[in-house]
Amino acid sequence: MRVTPPLPSVALGLALAVALAGGAGAARILALYAVPGRSHFMVTSSLARALAERGHEVVVVSPFTTPDRPANYTDFTIADPMDNAATTDFYNFGNLSPLGMVLFLWDFSIGMCRGNLADPKLKTLIHSKEKFDLVLLEGFVGDCLIGFAHRFNAPLVQMSAFHGAVWMGDWVGNPSPPAYVPDPFLDFSDRMTFKQRLVNTALVLLERAGRAWYYLPRMDAAMREGFGDPDMPHIADLERNTSVMMVNSHFSVAYPRPAVPAYVQVGGLHIKKPKPLPQELRAWLDAAPAEGFIYFSMGSNLRSADMPAAKREAFLRAFAALPQRVLWKWEEDALPGQPPNVRLAKWLPQQDVLAHPKLRLFITHGGLMSTQEAVYHGVPVVGIPLFGDQQLNMNRAAAAGFGVSLDFQDVTAEVLGATLRRVLGDASYSQAAKRLSAIFHDRPRPPIEEAVYWTEYVIRHDGAHHLRSAALDVAWWQYLLLDVVAVLTAAAALAVALACLAARAFLRCLRGGGGGRVTASKKRD
Ligand SMILES: *[C@@H]1O[C@H](CO)[C@@H](O)[C@H](O)[C@H]1NC(C)=O
Ligand SMILES: *[C@@H]1O[C@H](CO)[C@@H](O)[C@H](O)[C@H]1NC(C)=O
Repeated sequence: MRVTPPLPSVALGLALAVALAGGAGAARILALYAVPGRSHFMVTSSLARALAERGHEVVVVSPFTTPDRPANYTDFTIADPMDNAATTDFYNFGNLSPLGMVLFLWDFSIGMCRGNLADPKLKTLIHSKEKFDLVLLEGFVGDCLIGFAHRFNAPLVQMSAFHGAVWMGDWVGNPSPPAYVPDPFLDFSDRMTFKQRLVNTALVLLERAGRAWYYLPRMDAAMREGFGDPDMPHIADLERNTSVMMVNSHFSVAYPRPAVPAYVQVGGLHIKKPKPLPQELRAWLDAAPAEGFIYFSMGSNLRSADMPAAKREAFLRAFAALPQRVLWKWEEDALPGQPPNVRLAKWLPQQDVLAHPKLRLFITHGGLMSTQEAVYHGVPVVGIPLFGDQQLNMNRAAAAGFGVSLDFQDVTAEVLGATLRRVLGDASYSQAAKRLSAIFHDRPRPPIEEAVYWTEYVIRHDGAHHLRSAALDVAWWQYLLLDVVAVLTAAAALAVALACLAARAFLRCLRGGGGGRVTASKKRD
């Protein structure tokens, strides 16, 4: 049995567009989605698209163009300052340590910002007389674009295309207690050992210190230079003026964590209602035997050409021995030794493939969006994580019981075959996937509608600054209650000291009465 996806948000949006264009007022929105990663843009642009479909006028600044964009959705395409970063996935930078990854992101970000703000098209926008009611920003790299919120004096709504870094929660005063909220650059769960909590806490502190003293001063300089305004506020102050922070996360695919009202979880907002598959592909999948079919895609990161021949052989041998059909996203024309039950395709409508009722298993690199789509459709996974947050996602899949994580280095025909047979042969994996899917779907409204709601909420309430958490306005030592702890400790110490003094006086008093007699009797002896 397959979980029925909720009503298509797009159709709902269209139906409500007319009604709401009056209610929320059609707004002019500037969406700054300059992060040069296609997977990021797939997430962020889905909000811009939904807003345009509801009658708002959205200008989308990004290095991409959007095919079949709705009316009122304007592409403002800028150059990608990082050469071909747009064609390779952003996460594709190997196995860095968590701190190394954060440092890499910061340096990348500063270079990207300088490049963005030097773009002649963006320069025109900076000096234009345009007016916007709202600025949307993907807060990840390229934070200097936050200057546009100041430039147009518009409320700011930020979004993270992944679970969100700790500092993104800080923008809206959201607590991230390191005792049970793992940093998303680590692959820890929410139940950490002492050593893990130590590493988690140290990393979070280093990130905050590095941001404050290394990264933001450089970004401030880049922003002021790019906007040609030496009196601009600090980025740190603009960030803390974020009306709503949205994260592409949800407790069904992450862990329960605290969230202030301005910290909104919209995990899976990019997922669309399934469309019919291309005729020929559908016929091939429909004709799969009763054992069904397996879908294999390593996302855009691992291209077929990059796969070592020995690994390719291992996959082929394992697949050839299975009763299932296998649909493999493979970017080349031919695959030497292709078994008859394997079909290749250079590009596949992944969400629609995952919706096919004969699908039994998804072999994935464990990227966040693929993981969310697998959960949405209730499909068990075998994950072969390579880098970024993939290991975290697959650890979570294993812990939730709907998947198994396999190290790419360990892949042989035997290991892979045994793992596939284990997941295919044990109904508990698909039952867990279905259970999680039901949880993923069970929300007051679908994530894209949640994202639209909070965006319009900010517009309706002129920035909704009543959501601002007081955590943003107290000093750090007040936030950590160090003054209160100091006073309470002093009071406790004082109470103990007084009790000691009293006890001593009492004992002396006792001794003064009884002790005297003892001495006296001793003397008599
Ligand atoms: C486009 O936006 C304007 C307001 O900026 C609105 O009046 C108009 O109805 C929108 N058009 C569509 C097709 O939604
Ligand atoms: C915060 O945002 C509002 C718009 O919502 C703006 O009027 C205000 O000046 C901003 N404050 C700072 C410190 O940037």
